[in-house]
Amino acid sequence: MPAANFDVITLGLVAVDVLVLLPEHVHKDDKQFVTDLIIQGGAPTGSAACGVARLGYSTAVVVRLGENTLSDIARDQFRRHGVSLDLAAKDAESRPAIALVEIDALTAARTVFINLDNYGYVHPEDIPRDAIRKARALLVDGYDLDASERALEAAQGSKCRTVLDLESGDAGRLKKLLKLGTDAILPLACARRLSGEEDPAQALKALSKITAAQLVTTDGLHGSWALQEGQVIHQPAFPVKAVDSTGCGDAYHAGYIAGLLEGWDLPTRMEFASWLASLVATRVGGRTALPKRGEMRGHLRPEISPKLKTIVQRIGL
Ligand SMILES: Nc1ncnc2c1ncn2[C@@H]1O[C@H](COP(=O)(O)OP(=O)(O)O)[C@@H](O)[C@H]1O
Ligand SMILES: [Mg+2]
Repeated sequence: MPAANFDVITLGLVAVDVLVLLPEHVHKDDKQFVTDLIIQGGAPTGSAACGVARLGYSTAVVVRLGENTLSDIARDQFRRHGVSLDLAAKDAESRPAIALVEIDALTAARTVFINLDNYGYVHPEDIPRDAIRKARALLVDGYDLDASERALEAAQGSKCRTVLDLESGDAGRLKKLLKLGTDAILPLACARRLSGEEDPAQALKALSKITAAQLVTTDGLHGSWALQEGQVIHQPAFPVKAVDSTGCGDAYHAGYIAGLLEGWDLPTRMEFASWLASLVATRVGGRTALPKRGEMRGHLRPEISPKLKTIVQRIGL
């Protein structure tokens, strides 16, 4: 059976998150009832896949999952968000990562503990080269480095945009991935590490010497920056009553990819990405507040530019 065509294919870390909003006073060696304690799918590319799928773009994840509870949860979570598992590989022992996320109720900052036992790294034969070449966007991260590199290589010479979310991993390998991407959206900490520059503008300029990719860097509440024709542009974050910043970067990638698929210019992509990310910050969990297609209109706010407002209303986002 020939594989279906997908708008977006993602390949990278897949996790099951257990998230808890910590009470103001944590009593060690005791039991406490808490208001927010949830389990849901997580990780950068996994949650970004859910973000674009909910906005209505056909999306598939390249993952290796098995016959175990964590794999069952990961699959269930993808299905609930409308993400296709047609490109998923099966291998009984493989499982996703499991992450324990502790959220500070005062700052919305999260502390993450990750376990990768029996993690299902994607094998070379799992990479759907033809589906990637037919897709409109591929998103990879720096956790499954070998597979990310192979998937990016598969996309070369096709029309598929190659979007990178690099936050951790060996600097030399990440720089190699940077060269293979058309769009690289990096948290500022990673942009600093790869460029040796502290200032966002300087970091982007230094990175532009090693890649032709559209470079974007994000820094939480400070917003995001991008290089456009040698100039640095800045998109402020949208202030919200934030409870948990888990998944903001993932949603930013999802919004940016939606903008690529719609053919929007860079400032509009960044504005939409920031808006989507700000919604995610309002609930515990990186996927809880992801809007469905048609729901962004209900979150319009005065800061949204007239241009984006018109687009969102016109195309029914
Ligand atoms: N607390 C927040 N309130 C509103 N927007 C946020 C918040 N945290 C992050 N964002 C938005 O999400 C984007 C990505 O967040 P960031 O924390 O830089 O990424 P990551 O989650 O990958 O570390 C930011 O540029 C900003 O637009
Ligand atoms: Mg991130």
